[in-house]
Amino acid sequence: MVKVVAGNWKMHHGPDAARRFFSRFRPKVENGSVRLVFFPPDLSLEAAIGSTRVPADFGVQNIHWEAAGARTGETSAEMAREAGATLALIGHSERRHIFGETDAEVDRKVGAAARAGLVPVVCVGELLEERRAGRLEEVLRRQVGAFAGSLAGVAEFMVAYEPVWAIGTGETATPDDAAEAHGIVRDALGTLGRAPVLYGGSVKPGNAAALVSAPDVDGVLVGGASLDPDVFARIAEACGGAGS
Ligand code: 13P
Repeated sequence: MVKVVAGNWKMHHGPDAARRFFSRFRPKVENGSVRLVFFPPDLSLEAAIGSTRVPADFGVQNIHWEAAGARTGETSAEMAREAGATLALIGHSERRHIFGETDAEVDRKVGAAARAGLVPVVCVGELLEERRAGRLEEVLRRQVGAFAGSLAGVAEFMVAYEPVWAIGTGETATPDDAAEAHGIVRDALGTLGRAPVLYGGSVKPGNAAALVSAPDVDGVLVGGASLDPDVFARIAEACGGAGS
């Protein structure tokens, strides 16, 4: 499977910065050796899509589950699709832990993305306390179990394993930690098919190749290190050379 190299810009890079990013982003990878995906802020989506010069897919960082309505500040899956997104990040740990998004809401968003024809990229991951208490498997099975039903019959989706303690902290799961968690996610997905499972949490040029070489790790979801075009290009290069 071609490795997925996805950048989640979070609340960074307005339209001008998005255009500047793509004027410098030149990964030295063979055409098609990695699948590049970007999740810019909604307001930068059009600028990003219009200025990229490499093959890449674009997604939004969040959606509401309703198609339209009185939901001030929200964006629907249909609107995201109309604006050029083909994927939607759902249930990112910052949505769950800063904005209080629940498993039930994540499930509704997965259903909405699928109905609108967006590829759901659903995030799961345990807190440090949960890991220390030996609850990794229980937490991942609960999170995956909450949305798996909404993925039945969905042609394409991805799951991102992002341990909360590794996000933006400089702490990275070891390739063995990632392989263990990805194995649990894959098992919890059961018969849904061989979807890519991405690792996220302090991915850098120096650790990307080892992470994507671990069993069941099909790519990376990169936060901070995706903001600099040279650094993100080096991550893409590292993953492109890692094979399947
Ligand atoms: P960092 O790469 O900054 O740790 O963020 C990971 C992440 O949350 C990607 O979605």
